[in-house]
Amino acid sequence: MVNRKVLTLDEFTIQQLRMFPQATGELSSLLRDIGLASKRINVEVNKAGLVDILGDHGSVNIQGEEVKKLDIFANNQMMGVLRHGISCAGIGSEELDDIVIFDDEVSNQSKYVVLFDPLDGSGNIDVNVSIGTIFSVYRRVSELGKPCTREDFLQPGIQQVAAGYVIYGSSTMLVYATRRGVNGFTLDPSIGEFCLSHPDIRCPEFGKIYSVNHGNFFQYSEGVKKYINVCQQKTTETGGPYTQRYIGSMVSDVHRNLIKGGIFMYPGTTGKPKGKLRLLYECNPFAFILEVAGGKATDGTRRILDIKPEELHERTPFFVGSKGMMEELEGFLAK
Ligand code: AHG
Ligand code: MN
Ligand code: MN
Ligand code: MN
Repeated sequence: MVNRKVLTLDEFTIQQLRMFPQATGELSSLLRDIGLASKRINVEVNKAGLVDILGDHGSVNIQGEEVKKLDIFANNQMMGVLRHGISCAGIGSEELDDIVIFDDEVSNQSKYVVLFDPLDGSGNIDVNVSIGTIFSVYRRVSELGKPCTREDFLQPGIQQVAAGYVIYGSSTMLVYATRRGVNGFTLDPSIGEFCLSHPDIRCPEFGKIYSVNHGNFFQYSEGVKKYINVCQQKTTETGGPYTQRYIGSMVSDVHRNLIKGGIFMYPGTTGKPKGKLRLLYECNPFAFILEVAGGKATDGTRRILDIKPEELHERTPFFVGSKGMMEELEGFLAK
């Protein structure tokens, strides 16, 4: 049996590049840089508990969250590869108060800026539940040759040229989307390469999984509560029965729902009307990925990708997943 040649991430991005001779290869190079940072983060995640990488860093970030040591480690790995690459003019990160403009001769010529959540699901680090990294890539709107500007980072999500995530779980996977499709790569530790394992991922139009934090139930709007009740009462005749799955790492919850079909909700609450999730480096990347895969993503009323961001760390209510399930939800939110 001839073993099918499995493309590595590098081979795949170069293959994509060859299909578009006018491309400069900067985006391919950027994705390979992110893959490198992910492999370094993966090493620390996999041995967390054996080395002094668990627990609190002892600081509180701009989000008001206890920063974990692994948050800082992941942040520094992502920022390091992007600063020393040839494709990124600057970055924005969940763990940094403001954007970082690299402002050196090579970076100022670079076409892209990157926003990232270096470690998503930090609360799960110390209890060995899967966590991830999320990234979002924009072409600069500012003048090449000069330092990038804040406007480069505050573009609507529809302007993303690529978005993706890494999930440090039972295996380590990197999934990224461009307008041409969503592809998943699984890290093969024996060769230290991400290998194409999930080509052209499509999100099923319907699923049987709904993901929400029931602990906030009585703080949700009437429409959200009604939809959750509908989810709980689904039968085989009405597309169910549904199962509730909520890990507390958005990367894991949304990845599962992308593959199997399902809906993930982080609604606003009476206490936090904007919810918890950040628009620029959590909601926009997943909204882009799900839309390319055939799903939908809204804030309850607006398409996420149409929102014009005002602030780097702004939050938004977030509903994302299978198209058919999102449309059923919208019927309850419109009332
Ligand atoms: P982060 O660890 O990057 O701060 O993000 C955590 C987010 C997201 O991953 C997850 O879905 C959500 O927080 C869980 O929040 P609750 O514990 O409030 O449900
Ligand atoms: Mn956090
Ligand atoms: Mn996060
Ligand atoms: Mn985070």
